[in-house]
Amino acid sequence: MISQHTKEQIESRIDIIDIIGSFIKLKKRGVNYLGLCPFHNERTPSFTVSPAKEIYKCFGCGKSGNSISFLMEHEKYSYVEAMRWLAGRYNVEIEETAVDPTVKEALQKADSLYIINGFARQFFSNALLQTEEGQDIALSYLRERGFTDNIIEKFQLGYCPQDRDSFARAATAAQYNKDYLIQAGLVVERNDQLVDNYRGRIIFPIHNQTGKVTGFGARIIGKNDKAPKYINTPENDIYIKSKILYGSYFARHAIDKADECLLVEGYTDVISLHQAGIENVVASGGTSLTPDQLRLIKKYTQNLVIVYDGDGAGIKAALRGLDLALEEGLNVQLVLIPDGEDPDSYVKKQGSENFRSFIAENKKDIVLFQLQVSLNDAGNDANKKNAVVNRIAETISKLNKTEDFTRQQDYIRQCSSILNVDEAGLNALVNKRIRERINKLEAKASIAESQQPPEAPAEEDEDSIALLNKDEQVERNVVRALLEFGSYAWADNQKVSEYIFNEFEENELSELIDNKQMLLIIETYKSWLNNNIDITPKAFLYHEDIELSKVVVGLMDTRYELSPNWKEHYDGPLLTREQLYREEVLSSINYLKLRKIKRLLDENQRDINKATTREEQIMLMQTHQRLKQLEMELTKNYGTVIFK
Ligand code: GTP
Ligand code: MN
Repeated sequence: MISQHTKEQIESRIDIIDIIGSFIKLKKRGVNYLGLCPFHNERTPSFTVSPAKEIYKCFGCGKSGNSISFLMEHEKYSYVEAMRWLAGRYNVEIEETAVDPTVKEALQKADSLYIINGFARQFFSNALLQTEEGQDIALSYLRERGFTDNIIEKFQLGYCPQDRDSFARAATAAQYNKDYLIQAGLVVERNDQLVDNYRGRIIFPIHNQTGKVTGFGARIIGKNDKAPKYINTPENDIYIKSKILYGSYFARHAIDKADECLLVEGYTDVISLHQAGIENVVASGGTSLTPDQLRLIKKYTQNLVIVYDGDGAGIKAALRGLDLALEEGLNVQLVLIPDGEDPDSYVKKQGSENFRSFIAENKKDIVLFQLQVSLNDAGNDANKKNAVVNRIAETISKLNKTEDFTRQQDYIRQCSSILNVDEAGLNALVNKRIRERINKLEAKASIAESQQPPEAPAEEDEDSIALLNKDEQVERNVVRALLEFGSYAWADNQKVSEYIFNEFEENELSELIDNKQMLLIIETYKSWLNNNIDITPKAFLYHEDIELSKVVVGLMDTRYELSPNWKEHYDGPLLTREQLYREEVLSSINYLKLRKIKRLLDENQRDINKATTREEQIMLMQTHQRLKQLEMELTKNYGTVIFK
């Protein structure tokens, strides 16, 4: 765990303009900065960054957050990765609070492997570009295949010299640990000597999502039937094959923008497509897709387009991961490259525009494609056809999330028509498959004997949502006043926050707040206050619970800030929200009190309607009068503020 001290150091140095500005172009507009939103496609900028509030908001797509959540969304970092990135940028040394020694050891080992890979990458790239052997043998080969120097540099391609141990010697001289060099797969031990593993091969560094090199693919130059075409890093602490998608680091923004990810088989396919300006592309490395890889893709988009060779092997590979992909809720389409070509050779032959339109025009829904392929296989054989129906029911049944329901129904309709079977029948078959799976899961669960029954979320119908919104606004105003002005002075020796809490009885405020998130903020605030914890405005903005911090960002408003220019041009005093905070605090408290009175009045009214005796009625009428009186006083005192 990163220590509190480190977190505070990082937070105090955060410069949101510097951070976001290093990914997108920002222009100053008044007190805020404006740019094109990186989270959706837009031509006119609506992405606003407020350096004063340290938040961003897009008025186009509604995304908002702080510097940390920006890094998490834009770079797909975890919280800890985002903190590490910031620590690196602002030269803050990371202190870790006591961690489990085995965890610590694993982290240190991973760090060492990354460092070694970084060194190796540099060495190989040097060997390719700066040595005569590299230029003559490897660089010339890459150029002959049509790779530009720019793209070679971008993907950090390299070369491992033919010498038996040139890398091993360099690494040993630089005092890298022998065991780690072996685990990284860069060298092997032969008769007590270290020998390079990738001798005479072109090196393709493989980057993880944050751009660090986790391993390498090493390709033989030219053709050679005796040796494998590629040698890859063996599995180790940081190179876990099932989690690697080659090219994802370079593709992430393009995938986000296009809301589509192309999947190809080979490293060279990825690189060639990039060179052609098609950047939303990753490679699976020639194996069928794993759940981890699919989840990685889903971080960026729901739409996957598999672009494989049109031969039998390509088709099989594409279909192998299909059920998994559907289960993950991905929308999968397939394009087969014709004429024994692969995407690399095809894009080079056709050019980028033709390639693009080929993809766009030949995308086939993969479920329907699978059906077509297996139907062709089955021919007129009734048994085989039966198996096809069962198989397709199984596939469709994997689409079982609520949000997939429409898609599932579409498939049932289309497939039953292609198969020429009864739609209701296929529907029943799909449902049967789903039920079977649920039964299996339940059987498992009852063995595991999970004690808590799942809490059913209270569904709200549309009408009540509209009603809730007004109430929610009132709650949000109180919380906003608390967050923004809580530490301001209200009276001598009294802060605004203390005033707010004192205005209500013990738990009254919490009881008045319906919204769970608002309640959480209030409760957290109160407990910090009671424990004399210093509540800076940033305490909530950078709260470790990213969801909570997002709620806080959502409460902040960047629109009402005045630009300094405007202030200059305006004659006379212009009151800012900060100067008007007393009124804002009073008005938000009174709204809440008024709401309480309204609720009491309603409740009282119901009692009046139910009252049976005259005495009861009189008593309730008196209560009604008193509540009305209170209501009037509240609206009278703050009428101008409340009903502005
Ligand atoms: P080029 O032939 O240079 O265009 O490479 P390619 O990437 O197109 O290779 P290919 O289509 O033959 O294979 C696709 C992917 O499968 C490669 O990028 C590798 O990730 C993987 N692959 C291919 N051959 C081997 C091999 O011999 N060993 C291993 N481990 N992986 C391989
Ligand atoms: Mn190829």
